[in-house]
Amino acid sequence: MHLILLFPLICLGAAYAKTCTVHAAGRGIDDVPAILAAFAECGKGGKVVLPSANYTIAQPMITHLENGSFDLHGYLSFTPDIDYWIANSYRFPFQNQSIGWHITGNDFVVDGHGTGGVFGNGQVWYSWARGAGNLFGRPMSVSITNATRAVIKNFRIIQPQFWSSLVWNSTDILLTDFYVNATNMDPAAGKANWVQNTDGSDTYESKRITYQNWIYQGGDDCIAFKPNSTQITVRNVSCTSVNGMTFGSVGQYPSSFDILQDIFIEDVVVQNHRTAQLDGGAYFKSWIGVNVNTPPNGGGGGSGYCKNVTIKNLHIINATVPLLLTSELTYDQLNASYANTSTFVWDDIHFHNVTGTSNTGLVIEFECSTAAPCSGWSFEKINLTPADASTNASDDTICHNFFNYTGLPQCST
Ligand SMILES: *[C@@H]1O[C@H](CO)[C@@H](O)[C@H](O)[C@H]1NC(C)=O
Ligand SMILES: *[C@@H]1O[C@H](CO)[C@@H](O)[C@H](O)[C@H]1NC(C)=O
Ligand SMILES: *[C@@H]1O[C@H](CO)[C@@H](O)[C@H](O)[C@H]1NC(C)=O
Ligand SMILES: *[C@@H]1O[C@H](CO)[C@@H](O)[C@H](O)[C@H]1NC(C)=O
Ligand SMILES: *[C@@H]1O[C@H](CO)[C@@H](O)[C@H](O)[C@H]1NC(C)=O
Ligand SMILES: *[C@@H]1O[C@H](CO)[C@@H](O)[C@H](O)[C@H]1NC(C)=O
Ligand SMILES: *[C@@H]1O[C@H](CO)[C@@H](O)[C@H](O)[C@H]1NC(C)=O
Ligand SMILES: *[C@@H]1O[C@H](CO)[C@@H](O)[C@H](O)[C@H]1NC(C)=O
Ligand SMILES: *[C@@H]1O[C@H](CO)[C@@H](O)[C@H](O)[C@H]1NC(C)=O
Ligand SMILES: *[C@@H]1O[C@H](CO)[C@@H](O)[C@H](O)[C@H]1NC(C)=O
Ligand SMILES: *[C@@H]1O[C@H](CO)[C@@H](O)[C@H](O)[C@H]1NC(C)=O
Ligand SMILES: *[C@@H]1O[C@H](CO)[C@@H](O)[C@H](O)[C@H]1NC(C)=O
Repeated sequence: MHLILLFPLICLGAAYAKTCTVHAAGRGIDDVPAILAAFAECGKGGKVVLPSANYTIAQPMITHLENGSFDLHGYLSFTPDIDYWIANSYRFPFQNQSIGWHITGNDFVVDGHGTGGVFGNGQVWYSWARGAGNLFGRPMSVSITNATRAVIKNFRIIQPQFWSSLVWNSTDILLTDFYVNATNMDPAAGKANWVQNTDGSDTYESKRITYQNWIYQGGDDCIAFKPNSTQITVRNVSCTSVNGMTFGSVGQYPSSFDILQDIFIEDVVVQNHRTAQLDGGAYFKSWIGVNVNTPPNGGGGGSGYCKNVTIKNLHIINATVPLLLTSELTYDQLNASYANTSTFVWDDIHFHNVTGTSNTGLVIEFECSTAAPCSGWSFEKINLTPADASTNASDDTICHNFFNYTGLPQCST
């Protein structure tokens, strides 16, 4: 088990050679130059300490640690200057997105001590986007990028601007004891979801990543596995969100072969927020097999597979469809003639002890494509209750192009 490797690192704490301490300048003065100077001085083999309650982050930054640690006792508060951040945040090629802060390096610990992390000033972004998804330049709060053997712990992300966190091109990362909360306070939203895209975390081109002890409230995916996420463990996570554990989206780029493999999830509760509906507790989503328009909101024609997934002890409260698979993503460009063209393969996926409720007549809907039928799924101890108890039991579970499965007695094809 890879976590064992991380434990000696955690114990190094007292032994770091040098310590650099940065106090906040205050009065809205940009603290980034002082923070970067501290990382340059102490980031290799030393310790960077930020003891103040609130630091001003007025420019994008890359903090690099090798065999070092970062003690963050307060918030890195990102300035609410929308035009500045759109023009200056770092770019992330997938879905043409952006990033505000990269954490890079190897053999390091970032500790938020339960009081520190990111304050994203997200409300300005929520009110600006007014519920529109994936607007260009809106930055993710933090990305663990090009990193190996790291622990990020006791960390808070409040009012993230976009995705709260990303793990990109990284290996052997533990993200433990996180509290993430994106809540819209602008009454102009009415009943609409204005915290769309405030995902808890996403993984991309990464392996051996563990999420443990997370509390997430926000308006999108709790944790999402984007292309090339392998050996991922999720344990003890509570989500108040629009989707719970999301697999994808995948197959969005025509030239790409996407892999999701060896994913283990246990002890997860997913519930709806009072201002938004919960779409799916576990949500598998792939694009159609032909390319229509460009990402982020168009795409399709990619291929790949998802296999060896285990989901254990999942409790889903009040979802539209607690377990959901769609292979027909095109968002707003769906044309019926593209249905059933997806070539992305969903295989070898296992559920054990999944309980909860839906607010529709459906508890399971797996719309696999004729071009790539689903196979080798298993279900044990599934107890999901539809809202309409009078519904014919065989109608609450839909599984199209679904073969070679066990444990679903009433699957209607
Ligand atoms: C890491 O840093 C500590 C303290 O500076 C030092 O004792 C140790 O040898 C370093 N380890 C490596 C692998 O550089
Ligand atoms: C930090 O200070 C900024 C002003 O520089 C303010 O906008 C922000 O609300 C403060 N954040 C927290 C978490 O106190
Ligand atoms: C990303 O979006 C910006 C703004 O719409 C656009 O100028 C740019 O061409 C896009 N890049 C890609 C790779 O799609
Ligand atoms: C990650 O590594 C790639 C390849 O070396 C490099 O181009 C990129 O700038 C690195 N990213 C960061 C945030 O340092
Ligand atoms: C991924 O990160 C490693 C450092 O861990 C770097 O050497 C490599 O170039 C990065 N790859 C890409 C594609 O950015
Ligand atoms: C998230 O923040 C809102 C607003 O402060 C609060 O009402 C809600 O209880 C928080 N959610 C969690 C899970 O702590
Ligand atoms: C699960 O996570 C919650 C919230 O972070 C934490 O309070 C609790 O102690 C964790 N449970 C276990 C068994 O670690
Ligand atoms: C994912 O991995 C496959 C197989 O190694 C590779 O062909 C593909 O380019 C990778 N995709 C991304 C987005 O890194
Ligand atoms: C399937 O994934 C689990 C992690 O969930 C891993 O322990 C196991 O070795 C994988 N099985 C195969 C055949 O690779
Ligand atoms: C359950 O979900 C439905 C649909 O989103 C919503 O109208 C209802 O208020 C939710 N119930 C609770 C108790 O949150
Ligand atoms: C099933 O999962 C629930 C949480 O969703 C947990 O409380 C219960 O102990 C689990 N049952 C078994 C037999 O593991
Ligand atoms: C059925 O699924 C299991 C588990 O993935 C696999 O080992 C087996 O080969 C499949 N059988 C057929 C006929 O596809």
